[in-house]
Amino acid sequence: MTDRRGRPLRDLRISITDRCNLRCRYCMPREHFGAAHSYIDRADLLTFEEITRLATQFVSLGVRKIRLTGGEPLLRRGVEDLVRMLARLPGVDLAMTTNGVLLPSMAERLAAAGLRRVTVSLDSLDDAVFRALADTAVPVRRVLDGIDAAARAGLTPVKVNMVVKRGVNDDSVLGMVERFRGTGHIVRFIEFMDVGATNEWRLGEVLPAGEIVRVIDDRYPLEPLGATHPGEVATRYRFRDGSGEIGVIGSVTRPFCGTCTRARLSAEGKVHTCLFSSGGTDLRALLRSGASDVDLRSAVAGLWRARDDRYSDLRGTLPRSEPVEMSYIGG
Ligand code: GTP
Ligand code: 5AD
Ligand code: SF4
Ligand code: SF4
Repeated sequence: MTDRRGRPLRDLRISITDRCNLRCRYCMPREHFGAAHSYIDRADLLTFEEITRLATQFVSLGVRKIRLTGGEPLLRRGVEDLVRMLARLPGVDLAMTTNGVLLPSMAERLAAAGLRRVTVSLDSLDDAVFRALADTAVPVRRVLDGIDAAARAGLTPVKVNMVVKRGVNDDSVLGMVERFRGTGHIVRFIEFMDVGATNEWRLGEVLPAGEIVRVIDDRYPLEPLGATHPGEVATRYRFRDGSGEIGVIGSVTRPFCGTCTRARLSAEGKVHTCLFSSGGTDLRALLRSGASDVDLRSAVAGLWRARDDRYSDLRGTLPRSEPVEMSYIGG
């Protein structure tokens, strides 16, 4: 099954909460996500049974990788039970993207429940820079402990995501390279993206992937690597001295819509066929009105076949009405 641009459905990103214990400036700026912000009501969240039932339909249509996201997925109570349920789906690589703050106490249980890998977000090793960008009192050490706990639990290779903002944390790029080369962990440098309507995105704050690679290559010579699988978002490079690899994710300057095989399910049960789409399609209503598995499956198939999204390829040329926030859609 392919969409209107010939792209198969291979990945499902499932957001399980729109809440977070950090307030990264590029994602949940506190002035918009303060005490007055209203989150999805508990009764409106898909239950674990509902998520698993929908995921089963996605898998029957070709999904081979499921990634749990948020907000911060580890804030969802009982998340390891959901992991256990999804880990039973045949032939599926089950991963999670987390800020790592709760990993020190949870990594072991998540691995035991069947999680295969984690990606941990960390934007600087400098406490002052990290705390300003994540708008938090949490120290970098805590996230590093989370990464160590994940590695010990076998959630490997651990990937580390660093969103780079020019003039904010670009000085931290080489420090991240130095800290993680030789550890087996893979740092991915991500261009600051124009997701949502609250993060005051400006092109001037994007450090292009090409520049990031140049800065690293000047100090630690790199050579390009091929993609590990079709549709991978990161462009990979290896250190010529054999000390590992990095990735750059250049959604702004090197869009990858042509090979995009990802669907997204929000915590309240809406399917979005693009990170930048505004309206999703409500599957919760269908679920709760007594739809059969066949009905659910054909609803998803219909959505995918009609899909024509390629926001990043067309960036700047499309009008955007009410974009969804990153903390809602999960990246
Ligand atoms: P793996 O390939 O399994 O490592 O996962 P991933 O890189 O897709 O997951 P992750 O959650 O780490 O995402 C990395 C970055 O890429 C985040 O900033 C995402 O928002 C961004 N990203 C992931 N998928 C897409 C996509 O389809 N479009 C765009 N524009 N950005 C994406
Ligand atoms: N631009 C780029 N990446 C972002 N992320 C969150 N907001 C943005 C943004 N505006 C990253 C997070 C996490 C991943 C899912 O997306 O840091 O690692
Ligand atoms: Fe939370 Fe991740 Fe958004 Fe930061 S990027 S506020 S950790 S959901
Ligand atoms: Fe896929 Fe949309 Fe991202 Fe393009 S912008 S890669 S279509 S999610």
